[in-house]
Amino acid sequence: MSYFDNAATSYPKPDEVYSVLIETMKNMGGNPGRGSHRMALDAFRAVYETRVKLAKLFNIDDPLKIAFTQNATMSLNLAIKGVFKPGDHVITTSLEHNSVLRPLFSMKDEGKIELTIVEADGQGVISLDDIEESIKENTRGIVITHASNLTGTIIPIKKVGEIGKKHDLLLVVDASQSAGVLEIDVKDMNIDILCFTGHKSLFGPQGTGGIYLKEGVEITPLMEGGSGSHSKLRRQPQEMPDLLECGTLNAPGIAALGAGVDFIMKTGMENIRKHEDGLTEAFIKGLQEIDKVRIYGPETVKRTPVVALNIGDIDPAELSALLDEEYDIAVRPGMHCAPLAHRSIGTDETGAVRFSFGYFNTAKEVSEAIEAIKEIADFYEGK
Ligand SMILES: Cc1ncc(COP(=O)(O)O)c(C=O)c1O
Repeated sequence: MSYFDNAATSYPKPDEVYSVLIETMKNMGGNPGRGSHRMALDAFRAVYETRVKLAKLFNIDDPLKIAFTQNATMSLNLAIKGVFKPGDHVITTSLEHNSVLRPLFSMKDEGKIELTIVEADGQGVISLDDIEESIKENTRGIVITHASNLTGTIIPIKKVGEIGKKHDLLLVVDASQSAGVLEIDVKDMNIDILCFTGHKSLFGPQGTGGIYLKEGVEITPLMEGGSGSHSKLRRQPQEMPDLLECGTLNAPGIAALGAGVDFIMKTGMENIRKHEDGLTEAFIKGLQEIDKVRIYGPETVKRTPVVALNIGDIDPAELSALLDEEYDIAVRPGMHCAPLAHRSIGTDETGAVRFSFGYFNTAKEVSEAIEAIKEIADFYEGK
C-alpha cells in the first residue's frame, strides 16, 4: 500500500522505534518513578532520556519542563483549560484542529473567555496583521497551530511570538503537524507553551505526546493523582513535570518516541524535509496537468507535505474508497477535524481528500498516485 496519511499518523516507523518499544516492554517493565528496584529505575531513565532528546530538539533548557501526555489533544486541553481564566480574551485562527477549537468553544460557551477567531483566506493563509489587530485590553493569549493539517500552511511562529512578546501575551503553539518537520526553537520563537504529539512526524507510537511549559507560566492541572513524588502532599506537587503528569506513564511508548527523535537527529531534519518537499512539489506539479482537479492550500507561502484536493464533484469519501480498493492508496477524506479551515477554503459543504507524505514515501509512489488520479478524473469526465 502507498500510505499517504502521514498527517493522521506516520507509517511506517523507523525500525529502531519498533525494537525499542519491545525492548522496553520486555526488559524495563517496572513503573517509572514508582520504585527503587532496577527495572523501575531503568524505565525512569528511559523516560528521562526521551525528555532530554525532545528538549534538545526544541531548544528547551530544562528537560523537566516537558510533561508527557497521551497526545496533542490532551496537551492542548491542559494548556487551554489550565491557563486561561474568567475574563480573558483569547485569539486563535480558523486553521485550528478541533483539539484547539473545542476546548476554546467550551470555555467560551461556559462564559469563561472571550474568543476571536482570525479567519484564513481562501488559500488557508493567516494575516499576522489580523492577529495583531484582534488584540484587546483583556487579551491574555494566542493559541495557534504551527502548520495546518488541511492546507499544510506554515505559520511564521517566530513572528507570532514577536507579536505575543510585544503585547505581553501567552503564546500556545500546537506543533502536531510540525514537530519533527519544521525547526522549533521555543526560546527564539517566544513560545510559552508547546503542545506536541508523538505519533506523527516524531515517529513515536500512538498514545504519546507532550507539553512544554516555560518557567513562570502558571497552570492549574486538569487531573490530580499519583506522581511518584511527595506522596504526603494533599494536592498535586507544583513542580514540572509532576504537576501535569499523574498516573503511570506510557514508558515503552515514550522510550520508543525517543528512538523516533534519534532517527530524526541522525537523518537530519533538513534531509527529511527536502525529501518530503520534493514529493509534495512533484505531486502538485503532476496534478496541475489534470483538468478537474482542484488543489487547495497556499501558493504564496510554504506548506508542509500535505495536499488536499477534489476531483470534479466526486464525493471525497467515494474517491478515497476508490483509491484504497482499486489502487492500494491510503488517504483521508472528509473534514479532517478542521471544520473552520474547510470553511476558509470553501470546502465545508463537500470536504476534500487529503494526501500527506512522509519520509518513507517514494517518488515512484507519488507518480503512481498521479496516474491513478488522472485515470479517475478521465473516467468521471467520460461518464
Ligand atoms: C493540527 C493538529 N492538532 C492537533 C491534533 C491532535 O493530535 P492527537 O490526535 O495526536 O491528539 C492533530 C491530529 O490530527 C492535528 O493535525
